[in-house]
Amino acid sequence: MLVITGAGISAESGIPTFRGPGGHWRNLDPAKLATENAFRADPKLVWDWYRERRQMIRAAQPNAAHVALVRIAVQSRDFLLVTQNVDDLHRRAEWVGQRIPAGKMVQIHGDIFVTRCSHCDFRRRENEPEGPATLVPPCPSCGGPLRPGVVWFGETLPPREVQRVEDFLSHGACDLTLVIGTTALFGYIVQWALDAKGRLGRLIEINPEESPVSAFATETVREPAAVALPKLVARLPRWFTM
Ligand code: OAD
Repeated sequence: MLVITGAGISAESGIPTFRGPGGHWRNLDPAKLATENAFRADPKLVWDWYRERRQMIRAAQPNAAHVALVRIAVQSRDFLLVTQNVDDLHRRAEWVGQRIPAGKMVQIHGDIFVTRCSHCDFRRRENEPEGPATLVPPCPSCGGPLRPGVVWFGETLPPREVQRVEDFLSHGACDLTLVIGTTALFGYIVQWALDAKGRLGRLIEINPEESPVSAFATETVREPAAVALPKLVARLPRWFTM
């Protein structure tokens, strides 16, 4: 089973999607802030945006869709979640005391709580809330500008994480592929969904709106993820191989 998620799954936790209402910040388009050029031009502005998003995410709670996915993950024989989300709501979601193991989850666009150096290999995870910053933080190792550990537009995906997805798919097509809450604007997202579906698999899209994946879906559920996924889980047991 392969599950691909995007910003829509966190919408009901109060995290605005990139392209939906509330996506703009100080009247700025996130698509223009999340770039290396924007960071070079105004690193403080970009850091302010990410710090606010970190705060918002820390204050948010996983919703019923995140929880339903934990249940699917722990009950499926072979499972991988590929999320484009940099939040930690998939990681924090719990179902009967269980969480999705790190080995079954790929954050293909990075992790907002990682801070890394633009120049050297330094990286750390920010486990505590940070105060407001007045400056761009310097790298404690080389003095270079620190940046959030996320993938910006135009940057290459983390090769090790890509490899984990490719390895999973190399075992063959999936019985079930879920694509949840993403505009699926990136070719690799559509391609992974199609590879997972294979010739005979089922592909279910959960999204109130159409996306490029809709045309290949065997079923589309035009409802918010927190409504649709718990209902889907109730239908799933017959597909699980325990
Ligand atoms: P987008 O903001 O592009 O799309 C959000 C999707 O979620 C849309 O298709 C909505 O219709 C859908 N949606 C909204 N509310 C929903 C709900 N309650 N339940 C289910 N679906 C809902 O976000 P992504 O597709 O994740 O990349 O964007 C992909 C990538 O582009 C992001 O990871 C980020 C962004 O710019 C980088 O930063 C590299």
